[in-house]
Amino acid sequence: MSDNDRVRIDVQFPEASRQCAVHIGAGLLGRSGTIIAELVSSRRAVIVCDSAIAQTHAQAAARSLAEAAFEAAIVPMDANEEHKSLQSVADLYGAFLDFGMDRAGPVIALGGGIITDTAGLAAATFMRGVPLINIPTTLLGMVDAAIGGKTGVNFPLPGSETLGKNLIGAIHQPVAVLMDVEALTTLPPRFFACGLAECVKHALIADPEMLEWMESNVESLAPQHAADLVGFIARHVEIKTDFVKRDERESGVRMFLNLGHTFAHAIETRPELNLEHGEAVALGLLAACAAGEHLGMTEPSLRRRLAALLPRLGLPTRLAQRPPMNEVLAAMRSDKKSRAGSIRLIIPVAAGVVEVVDGPPEQAVGAAIDAISP
Ligand SMILES: NC(=O)c1ccc[n+]([C@@H]2O[C@H](COP(=O)([O-])OP(=O)(O)OC[C@H]3O[C@@H](n4cnc5c(N)ncnc54)[C@H](O)[C@@H]3O)[C@@H](O)[C@H]2O)c1
Repeated sequence: MSDNDRVRIDVQFPEASRQCAVHIGAGLLGRSGTIIAELVSSRRAVIVCDSAIAQTHAQAAARSLAEAAFEAAIVPMDANEEHKSLQSVADLYGAFLDFGMDRAGPVIALGGGIITDTAGLAAATFMRGVPLINIPTTLLGMVDAAIGGKTGVNFPLPGSETLGKNLIGAIHQPVAVLMDVEALTTLPPRFFACGLAECVKHALIADPEMLEWMESNVESLAPQHAADLVGFIARHVEIKTDFVKRDERESGVRMFLNLGHTFAHAIETRPELNLEHGEAVALGLLAACAAGEHLGMTEPSLRRRLAALLPRLGLPTRLAQRPPMNEVLAAMRSDKKSRAGSIRLIIPVAAGVVEVVDGPPEQAVGAAIDAISP
């Protein structure tokens, strides 16, 4: 894995006019003003930030923006799935109007996936869309949520207390994504591990050598070593953006990136399971392997390999309790990926090979939930 000091990846979409510059390096928060000034015409910006880092990383960005002659408002937001809501988006519209933001924006989303998803939807829809800059401060945000243009919020499922994950959203590509690896050094280990779950997912879909590299380098995959992970993060950005460029609106290969997510979305909003998104993805990867075994598509050795790696990365392999099957199936059927109420699963066949299965038998889903139940 090459660890360059700084990497820039230009993601060019099929329409020639659209591209997104992804900058990865150390100290980028302190240079964010200069970088953003080259990309937007307005000098009035709203920074929507995670309230946990409003006094630290957001201040570093605000100072840099002020040095680049921006007038910037900081709008903090608590990062939890309940706040990833239409109400939060409406609150952001109010803050944008209070600040006098016009169509030139920009909205700067600074935080993890909860912030970039919610602020991204506000930017996608305010005045029919204003420029968005993402500054992810979690590993999951860097390798996944802040790139690719998906924005969205949760919405209650009818007749249920459960939140339907990301049911309301829009595709709105950021103009740029700035990834300051130094910001990761303050990330709690539990959330660093959540980002590693998406990295394992990428490796399973597209890069068997990456899976081997992660198995051999677990000790370097920790927040205190994050400044050395520029090359690692860049590889995951490449994997994700390669699928997004080929299929921005997810009608084909982009859906491979949902590996583990149909299971994850069905379990992660259940409060009794106490799961963060990345933890639910880790369990979803194991569940997808088990479903593949039931369907005769996946060798059991793949699940054994994952079950050995995930705990070493700080990720779970079992649920705290078995969720009711009827509720799991109902949540999976209402997942965005399902078609006409029929579940769609992405099955890992081998490291680097996945297949889409529509309408798997309920027994395959049952076998998958069994495999991750206590
Ligand atoms: N849009 C997409 O393509 C996409 C892809 C994957 C996940 N997601 C979404 O992303 C969300 C999960 O994102 P996440 O894992 O980044 O979680 P998150 O946004 O909840 O952040 C995790 C925790 O870390 C804290 N935090 C963030 N940055 C920090 C830092 N530098 N130092 C200290 N603490 C910090 C936050 O306050 C929070 O407690 C989910 O809602 C998921 O649906 C979206």
